[in-house]
Parts: sequence; C-alpha cells; structure tokens
Amino acid sequence: MAFGELLADSGDRSAADAVIDVAAERARTLGTRTRHYFNSAGAGLASSGVMSGMIDHLRKEEQGGAYEAAALVADDLNAIYVHAAQLLGCDTDEISLHDAATTGLRVVFDALRLGAGDTVIAPRSSYVSQALRLLTLEKVDGVTLRIIENAPDGTVDLVDLEAALIAAPGAVISAVHVPTSSGLVEPVAEIGVLAQRHGAVYVLDATQSVGQIDIDVRAIGCDVLVATGRKFLRGPRGTAFNYVRRGFLETLKPWAPDVRGSEWSGETEWVTPVAARSLETWEAAIAGRIGLGLAIREALERGMPATESFIAEGAARLRAAFAEIDGVTVVDPPAATAGIVTFTVDGMHARDVSKELRARRIDTIAIPASHAQWDLGARGIDAVVRASVHVYNDQSDFDAFIDAVTDIAETQRGAAA
Ligand SMILES: Cc1ncc(COP(=O)(O)O)c(C=O)c1O
Repeated sequence: MAFGELLADSGDRSAADAVIDVAAERARTLGTRTRHYFNSAGAGLASSGVMSGMIDHLRKEEQGGAYEAAALVADDLNAIYVHAAQLLGCDTDEISLHDAATTGLRVVFDALRLGAGDTVIAPRSSYVSQALRLLTLEKVDGVTLRIIENAPDGTVDLVDLEAALIAAPGAVISAVHVPTSSGLVEPVAEIGVLAQRHGAVYVLDATQSVGQIDIDVRAIGCDVLVATGRKFLRGPRGTAFNYVRRGFLETLKPWAPDVRGSEWSGETEWVTPVAARSLETWEAAIAGRIGLGLAIREALERGMPATESFIAEGAARLRAAFAEIDGVTVVDPPAATAGIVTFTVDGMHARDVSKELRARRIDTIAIPASHAQWDLGARGIDAVVRASVHVYNDQSDFDAFIDAVTDIAETQRGAAA
C-alpha cells in the first residue's frame, strides 16, 4: 500500500502535517533533490543555512586566521549553549560541547572513577561503544555490570531495574532513549523516578532522540544526557553536546582537566570552575560548532513537538506498509514509536537489501548485530535494514520507498521459487 493510501485510510491527516512545512524543509535541503533519504539516524541531511554558516566560517579562517575568526563569532559560539539548553530544558552552564556522543559519555564515565565495589546497570538497548566501555569497566576495573532484561514490549523491564537498584544502592544507570537498532522508545522518565528513589546516578544516551523527540531533562530526571549533532538534529559530523546537572557536576572528578575548563594557577595547583564546559577540550572544529548552533536553532524554530509527531507518524506508516509486504518482516519491538524502522527481507542479507535500495536512490543502512549484541544479537538477528524518517521526507519519498521494498521482496521471492 502506498503512503498516500495509508494517509487516506487513517482518515486523520495529522496536525503535525499542517505544522511541518515539508516543502519548505525540502527547499532548504539540497540532499532531497536527487535521493529519497531515509538515513537520518545515521546522519541527517543538513540544511543550506547550516552548510553556508560553516563554509562562511571556513572562509573567515582562510582569510584572517583561525583564532581571529573564532573571536569574530564569539557571540555565536556562546549562543550554542543557550540554544542547546533551550532544546533540553536546562541551564546554559549545564551544557558542554564535544566531538561525539561517545566522547560525551567517556568524559562523564572517566570522571565517575568507577572501580571494584561499584555497579553499572545497563539496558539491552545499549549502543556498541558504550556496551564495550561497560564491559571493559567490568573486565579491567572490577566494576559489577548488570544488564537489565526487557519487558514483553521490548522496553527495559522496570521491575528488574528496580530489583537491581535495590541490590546495589548508589549504582550508575547507563540508559538509552532510542537505540541504534530499532525505533524503541525507552521509558526514560520512569527510569528517572527509580533512579531518584534509589539514589542512583542516571546517565542517558539520547544520541538517537535529540532532534526527533521533544526532550525536557528536568522531567526525565537524568543527571547527564548525551547528544550528537549529526543525526536527527541535522548538524555536522564531529559535533555533540552533554547536559550535566549542576549539582551532579560537583561530584565528578574529571580525569584529565584541560586548559579549556581549568586554570593552572600555581606550580601544583589548578582551579576548575563548576560549569559543564569544564569537561570540554580546548581544541574544536569551530566551523562545525557554528553548524551545530545553526542546526539547533532551526530545530527550535521548527518546533520539537511538531517535529516529533511528524517523524513518529511517518515511521508508523512505514511499519504498517512494510508489514503488509510478503516476505518482509518489521523487526521493531512493540514499543517502537520513534522515527527509526527496522526490517528484514526473507532470504536476503540486510546489507544487500540496503544496496538494492541505494541503486534505486533510496538511502537506508544495514545495522549488524555487532552494533547491538545485547539487542539484535540476543534476538538472534544478524542484521536489519534501518530506515529513519525526517521532516524533509515527502509523499514521493514514502511511495518510492514502499514500492522499492515491495519490488525487492517480490524479486527475491521469484528467485527463491
Ligand atoms: C544510540 C547511540 N548511542 C551512541 C552513538 C554514538 O554516537 P557518536 O557516533 O556521536 O559517538 C550512536 C551512534 O550511532 C547511537 O546510535
């Protein structure tokens, strides 16, 4: 069934449709002109404004020197903290900028200085790099690692989580909002309630949710939230940011104080002011930061509630359409309501499906179990095709995508017969 028919069927051409100006989004997104782009969970398409801002800055560096160019945009750089705080519902001094979500997680986990006697609790939705970090903490540093089982709908089992918290008061929860391997949305606010009830530290990986889901860190109740710039926020690669709750920041012991955040005040002394940016490093690609700031502003201007419902609705329609195609299995868990859709085609490796789609100018990506062993590996799935929706996806994108998957599955069935 085509996307248009699904829209008609539902009878509720959504409010989000009215609020998101898809044509305007496409007009300012060059990447939509030649491709049907469904890989925003990999890296969202940046707008022309974001790209021009970065190029302009590089020209300033070329003409006047990189430090001098940075001084010229000092106000814009400061504004990134203001806008990131607005996006997450926190204060400006609770934001730090990094080059990757993985770096944001690393500086926090380094500063926790975990060792024997400490417990980290993690869900099955954990991302590969964080899972490997936690396994390293377990194997090398003697930290106890407790993986929480899933509830039947695929979300982290809150009963099992609470049992783990009771067994290890003061543990660190390393949670995920939306994983890399499905459209699952974890119950992040409920996790926050449990964290507070049991005095746990709560670190939330929101790499796949910031930019697609309206986020309020105070309502979630996390101590740290980690985000990346290049995915649903549509910023450049090599950009990321953290929220670090003010009271929590004071308990951290940064592993490697940097000139960015600390002042070497005497032979053996240094001073580190209490602000999340003390976790940053001095060096950064300033053009990338300019692009990140512009992307955050565009997301705020577009409005996160409207963005969230538009993306969720598009993904739901893809799931419904794919579920009707013979030989195609939607492998998202029942609690998948985010803008990521995962599926397999009988008899074909996900990599080959994605390749076939790319040949038809449709961009998706294959996610192997090695990116999510606690999820895909545990479910016995060796790889999935991952598609992700954004505000620049229009009717023609959805129709082309659904037709192509139908065609690929049909051809495969014919070949297997
Ligand atoms: C859920 C999740 N967490 C963390 C990361 C890592 O983000 P980064 O590549 O910015 O370090 C990813 C990347 O795909 C991810 O999907």
